Amino acid sequence: MTKIGIVLGSTRPGRVGDQVARWVHERAARREDAAFELVDLRDHPLPHLEQPPGFSGEYLDERIRAWAAVVASFDGFVLVTPEYNHSVPGVLKNAMDHVYLEWNTKAAGFVSYGGAGGARSVEQLRLVCGALQVADVAPQVTLPLATEFENRTVFKPGDHQVAALDTLLDHVVAWSGALAPLRGGRAEAAIRERIDAIVDGLRNKDLEALRRVYAPDVVSFDVEPPLQHVGIEAKLANWAKVFTFFEKVDYELRDLTITVRGDLAVGHGFGRVSGTLKNGVVADGMWVRATFVFRNTRDGWVIGHDQASVPFDVVTGRGVADLEP
Ligand SMILES: Cc1cc2nc3c(=O)[nH]c(=O)nc-3n(C[C@H](O)[C@H](O)[C@H](O)COP(=O)(O)O)c2cc1C
Repeated sequence: MTKIGIVLGSTRPGRVGDQVARWVHERAARREDAAFELVDLRDHPLPHLEQPPGFSGEYLDERIRAWAAVVASFDGFVLVTPEYNHSVPGVLKNAMDHVYLEWNTKAAGFVSYGGAGGARSVEQLRLVCGALQVADVAPQVTLPLATEFENRTVFKPGDHQVAALDTLLDHVVAWSGALAPLRGGRAEAAIRERIDAIVDGLRNKDLEALRRVYAPDVVSFDVEPPLQHVGIEAKLANWAKVFTFFEKVDYELRDLTITVRGDLAVGHGFGRVSGTLKNGVVADGMWVRATFVFRNTRDGWVIGHDQASVPFDVVTGRGVADLEP
């Protein structure tokens, strides 16, 4: 199901924005076409930008990794924003600047408030969204302090604002869903890079590079006994064993097909480990059927489960290891 984050863009002590964000969330939660979650920037304190732009999706700071995971988990956003000095609140802009890929090809709508309804803040947010490859929807909710807040502090929206919010949500949900195929393409490219990292890791006998491709709790149904290898150390021990046999190792993967659904992806293809053994014999290896289950985590796409197998002859019970894809 489409997942929309309602981002509260003020962290100011005494802020009125929490009332507005709660109103948006309560109204949105009645819908059945998407799941909505409130994201309070107070819960995601970030430094002022201290590292190079995170275009790579690799973040040095734990706080930024956590924020990236939050942004990555949504398909679209409602940005609830005040206006400070005719512009976007610094805390919201800082949160937007910290990550990049995680915003890309998603949709956003705006609920703004302030002396002048926050309209100028939204105009600038639309430019920021353009840079982040976020599709901003046209309908917006604009809440002047003078008319929608009692004593400019207690939020009492007029009924017409509810209709405006519904229209905004209609658009955010529709656009977030419509952009899903684009996000799938991006995820597939990232997963293919991970598979390439396995090939490089094996060729270089680099266990640490391989470690980065698997989830710590990976469950692997590898070709060798036992029935399952549980956890990253067991998986790496299997690869380390391969390295003890081979002087020079190679890995080929053919016909890899990847299907992405949200934070989960499945890949299947045919894999073959080959190379030169320690005694100088060239080993062609055998083709196995390989299946990968990837999870999108704060460390990017990692393998949570894999299996490698050969078919077996039902009469003899022996594996058939000489098939070619
Ligand atoms: C530093 C500062 C600058 C502001 N500048 C504007 C402004 O330019 N235009 C406007 O309409 N309101 C402006 N306001 C009013 C805010 O939009 C209003 O106080 C709003 O309640 C702030 O949101 P918050 O209470 O959720 O932090 C400003 C408020 C602050 C604190």
